[in-house]
Amino acid sequence: MNTTEDFLPINGTDYVEFYVGNAKQAAHYYQTAFGFQPLAYAGLETGLKDRTSYVLRQDKITFVFTTALVPDSPIADHCKLHGDGVKVVALWVDDAKKSFEETTKRGAIPYLHPHEEKDETGKVVLSGIRTYGETVHIFVERKNYRGVFLPGFVKWEPHYRPSSVGLRYVDHMVGNVDWGEMNTWAQFYHDVMGFNQLISFDDSDISTEFTALMSKVMASSNLYIKFPLNEPAAGKKKSQIEEYIEFYKGGGVQHVAMATDNILDTVAALKSRGVEFLRVPDTYYDALIQRVGNIEETIEPLRELGILVDRDEDGYLLQIFTKPVEDRPTVFYEIIQRKGARSFGKGNFKALFESIEIEQGKRGTL
Ligand code: FE2
Repeated sequence: MNTTEDFLPINGTDYVEFYVGNAKQAAHYYQTAFGFQPLAYAGLETGLKDRTSYVLRQDKITFVFTTALVPDSPIADHCKLHGDGVKVVALWVDDAKKSFEETTKRGAIPYLHPHEEKDETGKVVLSGIRTYGETVHIFVERKNYRGVFLPGFVKWEPHYRPSSVGLRYVDHMVGNVDWGEMNTWAQFYHDVMGFNQLISFDDSDISTEFTALMSKVMASSNLYIKFPLNEPAAGKKKSQIEEYIEFYKGGGVQHVAMATDNILDTVAALKSRGVEFLRVPDTYYDALIQRVGNIEETIEPLRELGILVDRDEDGYLLQIFTKPVEDRPTVFYEIIQRKGARSFGKGNFKALFESIEIEQGKRGTL
């Protein structure tokens, strides 16, 4: 138990902002494939000259897709270097100014100095700091705001509204960092943001014939925010972390894990809408009950959908991973349902990595 006062209390993930090549089409994809609902918009029609943003929401998950309208733009630069990817992991706080002061005095590099933004429904305070790669955290204080998203945005009400697929909240978000940088960034989250280490893995836990990685899970003291950090470890061939770093041109967000209360329904819906998942060999299911003990679900639908199961001392979890959702093999998603377990599916890593290696083999990047 952490007995020191939490200098950076965080209420949850506020939003995740992606810089993309075409926000209009990305928004359509997340509506159609992932069941996100239209929420807000900003662009030429709202007075912006250089960018457009679409905001989508599914229960507590808010995604923002932003694209540059001009070539001379940090958004365009970001897309040129990284491809589509996560720029902002925004954190919901009660005091954005204090969050900025507490983290920068502990060594965080400023990204956005605290400032107020207002409209007729109230005001927000925003501030921000840099983290791994070109990724940033923005602290969002919205206790005096009642607008649809943030000042500058208007309600986005298209006629096209595919239904939700039952995604509920961000369970965790994983960062891939460069060779030898995992400890640096784990230390950053500890020293600068007051996070504690939940779990660590090394290459003796997670390695296949070809691939290895190291991982540490950092969490805010209330456990609302969990950031596993991966770095590549030497293997016979190129690991998926190394592949990511190579295509993303540095560290960045690797996957966003989104929780559901009914993974069977959610994954069946996602599949029918065209979301592609990694598939483990069928033999995985033959030994499943032996490995994880009794579970409430029957094996057959799990096998059919390719859902994985793992157990820890607190319970079990069900999870599945999509293939990357861009042309570069970078960002992907995890769908997770927790039944007591508080860990991240370590028992599945080996089977999963072997299935990723089959994909890497097809891409010629192993
Ligand atoms: Fe994960």
